[in-house]
Amino acid sequence: MVKICCIGAGYVGGPTMAVIALKCPEIEVVVVDISEPRISGWNSDRLPIYEPGLDDVVKQCRGRNLFFSTEVHRHVGEADIVFVSVNTPTKTCGLGAGKAADLTYWESAARMIADVSRSDKNKIVVEKSTVPVKTAEAIEKILTHNSRGVKYQILSNPEFLAEGTAVKDLFSPDRVLIGGRETPEGREAVSALRNVYAHWVPEDRIIATNLWSAELSKLAANAFLAQRISSVNAVSALCEATGADVTEVAHSVGRDARIGPRFLTASVGFGGSCFQKDILNLVYICECYGLPEVAGYWREVIRINDYQKSRFVNRVVSSMFNTVAAKKIAVLGFAFKKDTGDTRETPAIDVCRGLLRDKAVVSIYDPQVTEEQVHRDLAMKQFDWDHPRHLQPLISPSDLANRVAVVHDAYEAAREAHAVCILTEWDEFRNLDYQRMFDAMHKPAFVFDGRNVVDPAKLREIGFVVYAIGKPLDNWLKDMPAVA
Ligand code: NAD
Ligand code: UDX
Repeated sequence: MVKICCIGAGYVGGPTMAVIALKCPEIEVVVVDISEPRISGWNSDRLPIYEPGLDDVVKQCRGRNLFFSTEVHRHVGEADIVFVSVNTPTKTCGLGAGKAADLTYWESAARMIADVSRSDKNKIVVEKSTVPVKTAEAIEKILTHNSRGVKYQILSNPEFLAEGTAVKDLFSPDRVLIGGRETPEGREAVSALRNVYAHWVPEDRIIATNLWSAELSKLAANAFLAQRISSVNAVSALCEATGADVTEVAHSVGRDARIGPRFLTASVGFGGSCFQKDILNLVYICECYGLPEVAGYWREVIRINDYQKSRFVNRVVSSMFNTVAAKKIAVLGFAFKKDTGDTRETPAIDVCRGLLRDKAVVSIYDPQVTEEQVHRDLAMKQFDWDHPRHLQPLISPSDLANRVAVVHDAYEAAREAHAVCILTEWDEFRNLDYQRMFDAMHKPAFVFDGRNVVDPAKLREIGFVVYAIGKPLDNWLKDMPAVA
């Protein structure tokens, strides 16, 4: 029996290993983590992450050939294939702070693999985390310099799943990418991993490349995706200035088969744990290789994203007579996208901070985000990235207590509010009883839709003043232009 061990039971390690276990019943899969609460969550009825369809997959194979454990050393030592799926955040201090990937967790995982591996078992070590190009070379050095007779093959197998659709993406990936050394042993390792995925992924979707291409492809793919969002968001600002409608423009542009329709939805800005981190990492790598123009090109994708978030806040404040002081603002949605409870880099953090800076009182509702999480996110000292961020007040504990409420439904959030801001595209926000909300709000009542989930015409009929990203403006808003 082949044994797989995955180090890191997070958003990637958990779902990916659960799907491998489901599709490969003859393989034993153990997911290990240093975090006790994470592992006990995976072993309970309430999984530590919310992901549609995941409960079902885990229930089918947990205890059969899927296990979650904190016995990191034992399971890594026994495994034939070790996936490393630990977090690789942006460095917050020292060389490359604010851009470079922090490989502390990665390196400690690699050293631990070397420590616990014995010569009776050679190992394939798989980079699942997103890492800078050439990381495999560094890991190879750590492993071979500390080897106790064990032979290692390093593979790069970056993960392309998106949160909220992880199970669907894993069941039916656009591609599985495997990078390896171009030696007989390297090719053998690639083939061993290919055999795992071939249990359910069609052969022509499994791409084998050299190590550096696989590592760089992941960073490049995220940069291309984020670039599309910043492109459409840049166009959204021009739409508002001219009377064009960004949905119509994106639809027309995306119908060109060379461009394609997906990932052209204008929004209050992209969030999530990957895009910003991976682009900053790409920027840093370009700078290190003496390519400042290339670095500048990708940095602009983040600048437009920051601009989009601050533009939204400015629009809210300027529309409401240039002051939101002591006004209650309902915030619908805090997660960085629908169908996840993840709030890492969510645009809602910057928007709420911007509103609080202008002394608003915010009442937040998100179906999957807890009060504790919202408070942690808003109170957290954000790193002073090297790109301009205009929205970074430090929220004091008393401000958090007095001016931030987290409530259990949208109607409670909107009661006696002056405005509603929609920041996540949860399906339930499309079908709210907006008349009921209007009746319970101060007048004039505003809706600022950062996700284009409502029909502005219907809401205007009710009596709302409506702002929707990239849509033709109400006369009201035209009279009060936002200064970005
Ligand atoms: P995460 O923070 O949810 O999970 C990482 C886990 O690794 C944590 O539970 C942590 O406790 C554990 N860990 C850290 N060091 C460890 C060690 N030495 N031994 C054992 N456990 C250790 O992170 P994530 O979102 O799953 O991301 C993991 C990697 O995958 C990152 O490199 C990320 O860029 C990449 N990625 C993420 C996504 C996504 O959508 N979240 C998608 C594709 C790729
Ligand atoms: C992303 C990549 O899509 C995935 O392939 C990679 O493995 C990890 O990073 P994720 O961050 O989970 O996945 O979600 P994604 O669907 O890409 O959305 C990221 C952000 O962009 C969200 O805030 C989302 O709301 C926003 N977005 C997405 C838009 O604003 N417009 C779009 O058209 C698409």
